[in-house]
Amino acid sequence: MNSNEIRDLFLRFFEEKGHTVLPSSSLVPHGDPTLLLTSAGMVQMKPYFVGEATPPNRRLATSQKCFRTTDIDCVGDAGHLTFFEMLGNFSIGDYFKKESIEWAWEFVTERLNLPKERLWITVFLDDDEAEGYWLELGVTKDHILRCDEKDNFWGPAGETGPCGPCSEIHYDFGEGFGCGSPDCGPSCDCDRFSEIWNLVFTELDQDAEGNRTPLKQKNIDTGMGLERTAALMQGKSTVYETDLFTPIIDRISELTGRKYGQSDEVNRAMRVIAEHTRAAAFLIADGVIPSNDGRGYVLRRILRRAEFFVRQLLYRKHAVASEHEFISGADSIPEAFDRLSEAGKIQDKLMNNFRQMDPFLSKVVDVVIEKMKWQYQELEIRREYIKQVVTQEELKFRKTLLDFEPVVLKMATIHNLAKIAVPYEGPEQSYQFEIHVMSYVRNEFVHDLIRQLTLEPFKDAADKGCLAEMQPGMVSGEEIFALADTHGFPAELTAEILREQDLEVDLERYESLMEAQRARAREAQKFGLADRSGEQFYESLSLPVTEFVGYDKFSIQSQVVGIVVDGELVETAFQGQEVEVILAATPFYGEKGGQVGDTGEIQSEKGKIVISDAQKPIDNLVVHIGKVEEGVISVNDPVEVKVDRERRLDIARNHTATHLLHAALRKVLGDQVKQGGSFVAPDHFRFDYTHLVAMSKEELAEVQKIVNENIRRSYAVSGREMPYQQAVEAGALAFFGEKYGDVVRMVEIGSEDRSQKVSAELCGGTHLRNTGEIGFFHITSEKSIGSGLRRIEAVTGRGAEALAEERISVLENVASQLEANSTEAAEKLALLLSEFNAERKRAKELEGELLRKTAESLLLNVTQVDGVNVLAGKIEASNMELMRETGDWLKDKLGSAVIVLGVVLDNNPRFLAMVTPDLVGKGIHAGKIIKQVAQVAGGGGGGKPDMAQAGGKDKSKIDEALKLVPDLIGK
Ligand code: SER
Repeated sequence: MNSNEIRDLFLRFFEEKGHTVLPSSSLVPHGDPTLLLTSAGMVQMKPYFVGEATPPNRRLATSQKCFRTTDIDCVGDAGHLTFFEMLGNFSIGDYFKKESIEWAWEFVTERLNLPKERLWITVFLDDDEAEGYWLELGVTKDHILRCDEKDNFWGPAGETGPCGPCSEIHYDFGEGFGCGSPDCGPSCDCDRFSEIWNLVFTELDQDAEGNRTPLKQKNIDTGMGLERTAALMQGKSTVYETDLFTPIIDRISELTGRKYGQSDEVNRAMRVIAEHTRAAAFLIADGVIPSNDGRGYVLRRILRRAEFFVRQLLYRKHAVASEHEFISGADSIPEAFDRLSEAGKIQDKLMNNFRQMDPFLSKVVDVVIEKMKWQYQELEIRREYIKQVVTQEELKFRKTLLDFEPVVLKMATIHNLAKIAVPYEGPEQSYQFEIHVMSYVRNEFVHDLIRQLTLEPFKDAADKGCLAEMQPGMVSGEEIFALADTHGFPAELTAEILREQDLEVDLERYESLMEAQRARAREAQKFGLADRSGEQFYESLSLPVTEFVGYDKFSIQSQVVGIVVDGELVETAFQGQEVEVILAATPFYGEKGGQVGDTGEIQSEKGKIVISDAQKPIDNLVVHIGKVEEGVISVNDPVEVKVDRERRLDIARNHTATHLLHAALRKVLGDQVKQGGSFVAPDHFRFDYTHLVAMSKEELAEVQKIVNENIRRSYAVSGREMPYQQAVEAGALAFFGEKYGDVVRMVEIGSEDRSQKVSAELCGGTHLRNTGEIGFFHITSEKSIGSGLRRIEAVTGRGAEALAEERISVLENVASQLEANSTEAAEKLALLLSEFNAERKRAKELEGELLRKTAESLLLNVTQVDGVNVLAGKIEASNMELMRETGDWLKDKLGSAVIVLGVVLDNNPRFLAMVTPDLVGKGIHAGKIIKQVAQVAGGGGGGKPDMAQAGGKDKSKIDEALKLVPDLIGK
């Protein structure tokens, strides 16, 4: 039974039992901030389980794409995967333990036809009910085991959420596969048992403190691993030998010329490449791009790991002669060095081949897509995009790998030399080793080696005396840390390379250094927050929350509830003081989500404050920052609060435009485009988004056109509050930060009717009422800001008007200088330019002709000194290059000569001397000649025997200087 048949059989079976089959949800959990990636079939069911959303049917079934990050480093063995498919049936407050157990049994024994005696069951400690149902089905008591929370309680996925006790079905391959221990059973780590299906009785909800309370309804969540089941059904001992992986492995085999099964090393490499490429293709199809944190980092890690093993198969395959093997055959350090340079040559050649090799992984991606596209069409739709992302990351990493590998190898060399240099027993000997190596420092190779060791990138390690602390065969944590921390080369890969060289790595020490580093970073961050206007300070004041009324009002009557001066709460502030003011209610928008804070005024009967910024150090508290311009202001004063209306509208124009831009980008570039961040100010805005390559001119023009069209269509913009789940269902684009149960604000552009809806986003910012108010939108720049993120800068409304006016006035100014009107200006400029270029060309030709004539006349002045042709003369040339050309021409004509030319350039004398090779052979030296010649004109200089240049200070001395030349030859 192939994997497609198993998947199909499962879903049809549950359809027969009244379930609705839903498509797999994205690997990027939609609106679930508790999870990095979708790790189980139940993730999309969470809102149904907790009763926050209504399911299309209370019985559901899926084949869900899942990704688990915990075992990345184990991938390569027979069983671990990062990406897998989970088959699951779900009951949303419908059936419970009895039916889920009966159907699971029916499916495995009657549809998959697995022999009953091979099946073992586990149940939670006190779950007599579940055990009862298994017994009723005929499972014998000796095949049912009770397990504790570690094995038979599932969830929550993430920190909080639905969870419950579970019951599992395990397949027994037989005692022959076991560890032989008397305790060996379904929960044992050996190869005898394979867990195939987990039935979770999801009846509890866990909060952040770990407390569990019963859910309103009892649910069922089951998960059966498709890959494992396929292995079982196909009689294979590893998932890599099932139909899900064989085409991928075959392709890798074809591309590398190596055979799966050839050795453990080859198997491991092929599995890693196959698994990680498959997982990466799915992640990218769901919109993840490589970056340095979060999901992007997971993707980057697996792609790097895959490429590392490509290197293993393709390039390490010939490198049987590791440096260590070379060194270990040597009896002394000098001999070791000789052998090392041999090894170095082989290494260089192999590295060069690898550097020039075509991208590899995208060829594997093609096979992954062929295999999986029937179930997951997103792969086929995004095929080219996926390949592009993979290749970009692959080549980037290959370069890093090739840049760093020699450095790591040098590190290995030092350590391997240490092994043979001295019998290490104590610190004195290791010191002795250092001296030993230093004494060979004149040897080129060691010189290079020491340089690398003490300068780049081990300077730190060397400074800290690591060299003296070296232990034979063990690379210190400090060295790895220096490489990883300062140069970003992943420690696990450094360790892999070093292990190939028969060295161990003190990863424990490395981890503790990393941890210390993280702790320092956390401390530094804490310190920053303790700033007296920051979060902690305002938390500590416990002021009443501010009611924000700025979505529809610009000015209101309110009351002062707090005043802060110089980091302290005060009752009253006086004229001239800088203040932070908190009000009972405010129309001021406090900076958040990229939108800058409002400015304006707070006025009471006794005084006036001009507000230059508004901030939100903590949720629901707006702090107005400004200066008392008149009188005094006290706590409890009734005040009139006014936002600078024009500025606010400018900001709103830009903010609403970011939503239109976001929608247009998704339309033109695809739905994988995600907002990275934004900055919305009155005069312009920035919008960061995920995309790998620069947008073409056409794409940019298209985006700009769509936004401007949507402005002219004068769509209504509306903001309303609603439960989070409702907004997500209404199709709102949501990002990390909101939780189920939160009330959110959804900003919609366009009509209610979905077909007319331009955009729906969760957003707390202030917007226009109608897109028409934006007036005009214009992109001023588009560029990369690193890690797959790009930035668009744009202007709208008054900002766009100012820009247009400025550009038009520049154009008019240029036109008037060209004596043309602005429409003809470009044409006229082109004409002038072509005339100018023609003239410049002509001038060059004339200069050339002139020089040739001068040169020809110089030929008449050649004198003979001791049988040597000597030519010294003055020419006119506009640069040194022409002068050298003239010199070359003369040399050509004369065949054998000493030529010295003088010229005035930038009002200073310059000289050039040339000597033909035959005369150089006779000891005539251009550099020496020019030195003396230049001296006459107040300068100096020198150069090589065949050509030299020099400058002087007194141009009136050129002739006198050149006259000296014949005398210099005779000497
Ligand atoms: N959520 C459970 C699991 O992941 C069953 O679907 O194993």
